[in-house]
Amino acid sequence: MPGKFLVTSALPYGNGPIHLGHIAGAYLPADVYVRYRRIRGDDVLYVCGNDEYGVPTTLAAEKEGLSNQELVDKYYGINRKAFEGLEFSFDVYSRTSTPEHAELSQEFFLKLFRGGCIVQKEIEQLYCGKCSRFLPDRYVEGTCPFCKTGGARGDQCENCGKWYETRELIDPLCKICGHRPGLKKTTHWFFELQKFAGRLREWLESREGWRDNVRNFALGWLNEGLQERCITRDLDWGVPVPLDGSAGKVLYVWFDAPIGYLSFTKQYSEQVGTPELWREYWENEDCELVHFIGKDNIVFHAIVWPAMLMGQGRYILPGNIPANEFLTFGGEKGSKSRGNAVTVPEYLEKFPPDLIRYYLTVNAPESSDSNFTWEDFAKKHNEELADTFGNLFHRILTFAHKYFDGAVPAGAAGEKAALGEIEATRRKVEAAFEAFHIRNSLREVLSLARWGNKFFDEEKPWTTRKSDRERCGRTIAQCLELIGALAVLLVPYMPASSAKLWRMLGFEGVPGPEQWGALGRPLFQEGHKLAEPEILFRKIEEIP
Ligand code: 2FM
Ligand code: ZN
Repeated sequence: MPGKFLVTSALPYGNGPIHLGHIAGAYLPADVYVRYRRIRGDDVLYVCGNDEYGVPTTLAAEKEGLSNQELVDKYYGINRKAFEGLEFSFDVYSRTSTPEHAELSQEFFLKLFRGGCIVQKEIEQLYCGKCSRFLPDRYVEGTCPFCKTGGARGDQCENCGKWYETRELIDPLCKICGHRPGLKKTTHWFFELQKFAGRLREWLESREGWRDNVRNFALGWLNEGLQERCITRDLDWGVPVPLDGSAGKVLYVWFDAPIGYLSFTKQYSEQVGTPELWREYWENEDCELVHFIGKDNIVFHAIVWPAMLMGQGRYILPGNIPANEFLTFGGEKGSKSRGNAVTVPEYLEKFPPDLIRYYLTVNAPESSDSNFTWEDFAKKHNEELADTFGNLFHRILTFAHKYFDGAVPAGAAGEKAALGEIEATRRKVEAAFEAFHIRNSLREVLSLARWGNKFFDEEKPWTTRKSDRERCGRTIAQCLELIGALAVLLVPYMPASSAKLWRMLGFEGVPGPEQWGALGRPLFQEGHKLAEPEILFRKIEEIP
């Protein structure tokens, strides 16, 4: 029976161009998963958009000499284009700076506030006398109070992923002027996470099929004891705190951002003319909510956001949170500010989308970090896409054109070899997707292509063509079945190449659920006409 899925990718900050590190972490695996679900016939909504508020924006706007609004407008356009260029299939790609998003975020806040889970407090906060401003989050840098790494931001350490209060940072320095800040009294609102500790533990411990990194990290947080956390900031760029006497205070960007998953779903529902549609996902226990994220976002998605949802009392909780490790560049995490990573626009100037979709999936940082180099990209491309897949497609299609008049010969149906391999691969791919082992799912498809090349070599159709034409026909018919299956199996990873291959096989449109369901049964009728073959993957001769 088809399932119902709401799939999200972490909302990228709208403060700079996204790079391949982001793509490998929270984006590509989600798009591949979504395309897989769709071709299985499931009902899926894929929701994402830019995360536009808070310090990540104000700091970048100051640097670029733009207003906050100008900056987020600029990167909204750039990110949308980058995702389109990589063939992403979002149902909605929105942004958090919309009035509807602000309204819903305020509703979340007020529900928690009225339920006694948000409290107001006067505290001392880091204040730079020289710049005359409070220093929230990235306005300050110092040493991480947990792992003692230097250059850590004021809210979260990029090295160990810990989330802390700005005042806890060791040896803080103002990021703008470099001076040591003092402390100044200010009023803020705190989310009493500890009130959800019991429910969170019960929920987390009952999760099945989660990756170890996510479960262990989240349970580790719980075991250390949850504390109230400041969820407001002294800033003029964000969702205003919806209470009297809160002028100049906005919600912390990590409080409003995940609410985007819901506000964007509501926006989508309006856009498609069914304003209540979102309820079929967010208020439906049979819907699986899947958040794809990078490992630095685990605490927010596995602890804070579920607690925010529990406090609302009407929405489903995340069903799974597949978090990837990092794609590194020269061994370091990609960083917009350091500019050490290949950005998506830079990539797209050089190569088509499918090549990187393939490389970043087969080499995905699922269980440990992976390092990106152009050399390895070119090597894998040449060996796997050009020599394995491309060669298989080309040699079989040209053979069929040359010796069988471009038509499918008789005989695949009675033969078990290729169809059996296809059936077995389908099962393995499905099992890998169910377990969110997306990298392995693609490796299974690659194995099938390798098997095909071996089969062709062992069957020697160039010899049987003269000695046993019937057998030669059966071989080619089976090889064509194999290519047809690969066109179907490749849909999630390389939609454009799969569509081209499908056309070369003489079909219209693109493979869909009907073809997925039939994997392992003959696709072709005898005599089916193939279209002209072209080379799908050319070798990369020059490494960028
Ligand atoms: O780490 C980041 O890039 C954040 N902008 C992710 C936000 S995810 C969600 F909660 F919105
Ligand atoms: Zn740290």
